[in-house]
Amino acid sequence: MKERLQKIIASAGLTSRREAEKWIVAGEVSVDGVVASLGDKADPTRQVVTVRGKPIKISSKHHYLLLNKPAGYLCTCSDPEMRSVIYQLVKDVPARLFSIGRLDLNTEGLILLTDDGNLGNQLAHPRFKIEKTYLVRARGKVSRESLEKMRAGISLEDGITAPAKIDNVRFSAGHTWLEITIHEGRNRQVRRMLEALGHSVSRLKRIRFAFLEIGDLKPGQYRFLTKEEISRLKKF
Ligand code: URA
Repeated sequence: MKERLQKIIASAGLTSRREAEKWIVAGEVSVDGVVASLGDKADPTRQVVTVRGKPIKISSKHHYLLLNKPAGYLCTCSDPEMRSVIYQLVKDVPARLFSIGRLDLNTEGLILLTDDGNLGNQLAHPRFKIEKTYLVRARGKVSRESLEKMRAGISLEDGITAPAKIDNVRFSAGHTWLEITIHEGRNRQVRRMLEALGHSVSRLKRIRFAFLEIGDLKPGQYRFLTKEEISRLKKF
């Protein structure tokens, strides 16, 4: 099937569509040896599309990665303040990846990256109620009453939260550790829930997304999902 050249180039993971248009206008793209013009289409399975003389590799396969995001990295493509972004950690993957949902700058842990737009949109959609579990270290002692409030739902400025699951509560050195499982994914939800109860969060790490666990990946490390994991995710 014929597609616009900028789409073919972007799908191959070389750059964005907009940038690819600039390459075409600059005469850097050819189809079967003929310099292309903006608006040209090609069938990448039958024709050879070259960028600056190099044939581009077309893969119909999508990429699915599980990254352990370190604190201090943004889940955006670029940052005007030049802070680190998660995509710097997966530079060697030849695809235009995006994250499924986001984690705050100082939140660590499991984040899925893919170039499969359909699956990405599906899993990020609140309708699917995908459960995510966070390991939280909160300052002070979170009382039994406060834990029950989180289990029941807390009033935040954007409405009452759905009941959260709370597990593995421990107290240590002036802090409370707990695991909280939610499915809503509102902005800064875990931090805001604890703040509403009078506790600031000193560490936040996502350790589970649906059935996927962070395992022993070190901060900054990633792994590709297995075929079984991908097909399970597609069934949500
Ligand atoms: N809740 C938060 O407060 N921050 C995150 O990054 C994710 C969930």
